[in-house]
Amino acid sequence: MRIWVPIDAAARALGADAVAAAVLAEAERRGETVEIVRNGTRGMIWLEPLVEVERDGARHGFGPMTPADVGQLWDGGSLALGPVDDIPWIRDQQRLTFARVGLTDPLSFAEYEANGGMAGLRAARAAGPAATVQMVTDSGLRGRGGAGFPTGIKWKTVAGAKAARKYVICNADEGDSGTFADRMLMEGDPFCLIEGMAIAAFAVGAAQGYVYIRSEYPDAIRAMESAIRIARQNGLLDRSPDGDTAFDMEVRVGAGAYVCGEETSLLNSLEGRRGVVRAKPPLPALQGFLGRPTVVNNVLSLAAVPWIMANGAAAYADLGIGRSKGTMPIQIAGNVRYAGLYEAPFGMTLGQIVNEIGGGTASGRPVKAVQVGGPLGAYIPPDQFDTPFGYEELAGKEGLLGHAGIVVFDDTADMLELARFAMEFCAVESCGKCTPCRIGSIRGIETIDRIAAGETEAVAILTDLCNTMKWGSLCALGGFAPYPVMSALTHFPDDFTDRSGFDR
Ligand code: NAI
Ligand code: SF4
Repeated sequence: MRIWVPIDAAARALGADAVAAAVLAEAERRGETVEIVRNGTRGMIWLEPLVEVERDGARHGFGPMTPADVGQLWDGGSLALGPVDDIPWIRDQQRLTFARVGLTDPLSFAEYEANGGMAGLRAARAAGPAATVQMVTDSGLRGRGGAGFPTGIKWKTVAGAKAARKYVICNADEGDSGTFADRMLMEGDPFCLIEGMAIAAFAVGAAQGYVYIRSEYPDAIRAMESAIRIARQNGLLDRSPDGDTAFDMEVRVGAGAYVCGEETSLLNSLEGRRGVVRAKPPLPALQGFLGRPTVVNNVLSLAAVPWIMANGAAAYADLGIGRSKGTMPIQIAGNVRYAGLYEAPFGMTLGQIVNEIGGGTASGRPVKAVQVGGPLGAYIPPDQFDTPFGYEELAGKEGLLGHAGIVVFDDTADMLELARFAMEFCAVESCGKCTPCRIGSIRGIETIDRIAAGETEAVAILTDLCNTMKWGSLCALGGFAPYPVMSALTHFPDDFTDRSGFDR
């Protein structure tokens, strides 16, 4: 009997390792032989640890499983969920980037290939570098880290730069609150990211790559390091350069600074320098790692590429809305009933995501707001839940899509405190290079404290300060911190002026 128990960090945090041990012990007690496969998570975090058993050609789910419940895998019981593919959360998704996550053993190259792996790289090699760049451009893929810059245009800049050495760097310093898609992909299907990087390297003419992973992701670091070793044994990576398809890569571990997710800080950190932001220009595409032309792409951007190459640019571009093409792995977190990762074409409304997929708040109380796009994203109230999930659509609401994290808050949330948190976060994580961010964030905390103490005239000062930070900061940290502050102030002014319902 084959039994799948996730090895993903979220499932392990919820007891998956103890469940795996209990399954083995139970099988022994029953005198049965079982094969345990440690897969990635399916993304239904509220069901983790979600254990799957192969029966009549289908994988039947049981969850959330505890060691005491493992007998149900043989005898049935209240945790039985039926075939996992029939669970609406899974059935209704369009999983392109996450197609294999949860399905396969993340470190089995044979399973990777049997489930569509390597088809993208083969297609790229058959098409040639220039046609590969063109296909990625035609697919409409945009930077999934948050900024949404067209991936194909970035690759074209690097491909066209004249240099003896070029690099491909994957930004896996996933720092946005409520986001975990990069981690899930690296733990659940690491070869997909490696293949995406190999395609990028082939397209732009790079022979070396790095994946920069935050130190808070030890499971992802282990998975990527193992996958790189296995990829070398299977020809996906090639350490002995002998022509235009040779490409090798390494893992580099960050040290826990949010700002190192900003690409130029990341490059400094990778070069062994302090993680401070560099002024742009020059763009990393022209002068990046060690001053050489460098592709810096997020995990999700690179992991989307194998599918695009294997299935065609048009198939990807047909999905989505407006200039937001393809699918997005949406991460739903916070005070929500069904938290997890849901991949779907752009265009669903925020209301559908929060109420239908997320099932509303976990507390059962009304939703007060959702923060979209991480700690620098805007708070959006339910009266704007008809907003479609897309780059321009959210920007039109003074918000940002960011890395597609949605954090849900119920009606007990104190929006003044959340605005203060944004300024505090900015102050703690600021690299210190520019004044609006370094000093402005501290003044922001002080000004919000004055408002909380009843000095409502300070609201005008806060608004002025936010404008200075937005337009005067060197990078997105100081430049976007005003988004949560101003959206809280605009949509929930009473939380700033009438403090009677709050502790202070
Ligand atoms: P940006 O708009 O400055 O640049 C976007 C990308 O396009 C960069 O890689 C830049 O080098 C490249 N680019 C711009 N013009 C180009 C050209 N002509 N040719 C080639 N490449 C070109 O945005 P930035 O500062 O890199 O990112 C800001 C975003 O990061 C925010 O929107 C925020 O949502 C997101 N973010 C994501 C986090 C995460 O955990 N994933 C954490 C913090 C912020
Ligand atoms: Fe550094 Fe903040 Fe300026 Fe960005 S905005 S360069 S993090 S001081």
